[in-house]
Amino acid sequence: MSIKTIIEPFRIKSVEPIRWTTRAQREALLQAAHYNLFLLPADDVLIDLLTDSGTGAMSTHQWAAIMEGDESYAGSRSFDRFRRSVQDICGYKHVIPTHQGRAAERILFNVACKKGDCVPNNTHFDTTRANVEFVGAEAVDLLIPEGRQPALQYPFKGNMDIAALEALIERVGRERIPLVMLTVTNNSGGGQPVSMENARQVSAVCKRHGIPLYFDACRFAENAWFIKLREPGYADRSPKAIAQEMFALGDGCTMSAKKDGMANIGGFLCTNDDLLAQQEKDLLILTEGYPTYGGLAGRDLEAIAVGLQEALEEDYLRYRIASTAYLGQHIAAAGVPIVQPPGGHAVYIDARAFLPHIPPHQFPGVALAAELYLEGGVRSVEIGTLMFAAAAQMDLVRLAIPRRVYTQSHIDYLVEVILEVWKRRENLRGLKLTHEAPFLRHFTAHLEPIL
Ligand SMILES: Cc1ncc(COP(=O)(O)O)c(C=O)c1O
Repeated sequence: MSIKTIIEPFRIKSVEPIRWTTRAQREALLQAAHYNLFLLPADDVLIDLLTDSGTGAMSTHQWAAIMEGDESYAGSRSFDRFRRSVQDICGYKHVIPTHQGRAAERILFNVACKKGDCVPNNTHFDTTRANVEFVGAEAVDLLIPEGRQPALQYPFKGNMDIAALEALIERVGRERIPLVMLTVTNNSGGGQPVSMENARQVSAVCKRHGIPLYFDACRFAENAWFIKLREPGYADRSPKAIAQEMFALGDGCTMSAKKDGMANIGGFLCTNDDLLAQQEKDLLILTEGYPTYGGLAGRDLEAIAVGLQEALEEDYLRYRIASTAYLGQHIAAAGVPIVQPPGGHAVYIDARAFLPHIPPHQFPGVALAAELYLEGGVRSVEIGTLMFAAAAQMDLVRLAIPRRVYTQSHIDYLVEVILEVWKRRENLRGLKLTHEAPFLRHFTAHLEPIL
């Protein structure tokens, strides 16, 4: 086909108004929110890129499935449909529903890990790390060095460092490693994908040492699409076949269905291990619910069953990845420093390079995020010194794109807003903290501009 434009592969049946505010209003709102965008009322945000988690739009098929929800406490047919859909893609023997991803993580690590253990991952997402550490185990990130260089172009910056994995097993011993995890795509590392070859190598190391391999599968469909686009030998395979091949390399997964489950809530935990599954279900009953609903309504299970399959549709994935890349490429072409190449679900602006006159302790990421709000009512999130304090290696501003929510013109608007701020970046000032909580301070911190 000679037409190049990639369009949204849907038409809009139900619309949700978004509200304009004036710059003067936004100045007052930002001041009232103590320069912390988490503290803004969502109604005062025009384009909300705080997260891609649970913020997607459901399809007509999902809404129709919701009406089919069977709310029986035990043995509901909605659970059967959910299990069939999950197993069709992942192939694992046991499917345990949870209310979201971190609940699956909590159950897995409580059952599989103990104090003194060590869990390797390409990069732990923050809830994953917290759940590993909560049971007294150590969360070890083993990302390849290429994944830590924002400006470097490399097709699979989410890959795990195989030599580092071997060295870790050698150093701490197999008995201290209850499982290895691969996060696809690597959210904390810029939404970068993991190649099939790397997953195969990790799987081979795990098999040689008798260690189970689990996927943190939140963005499994986006990862599959990157493999199709970038890895030799996969161009003619369907995203579903690619996802199935990757899952077959492991023994289980955790999943937040708020991402590639295309649902507003939900998650699951899978395993092939009968004994582990029994222990996980026992814990599930204690904290989430009976194993055929696990903290979800029957209608949620239905929405996920349909959403997982829709996330693998080629037209959807082509549009999804192209629209994130479009945003990244247009701002990068004007000189805006971003993590390259653009990730699957988000574009990450390198705030230290954007605002070199603002030192990390004056929160360049927060300053940039605040200015994007003032300029155009856009909400993003700082991933840097406010979030990680002294442990921050970079100061990034993440623009996470909700699934099927914004159109091409919204993205064009975003490009304009970012480039306006880029033009007068020298006028931006740093901020200082006026209030912080003892942990996870970024959610509730108060800040004010340094005059
Ligand atoms: C890679 C990854 N793992 C786990 C989670 C946790 O999922 P949830 O927010 O559903 O608890 C997230 C959520 O953002 C994530 O991105």
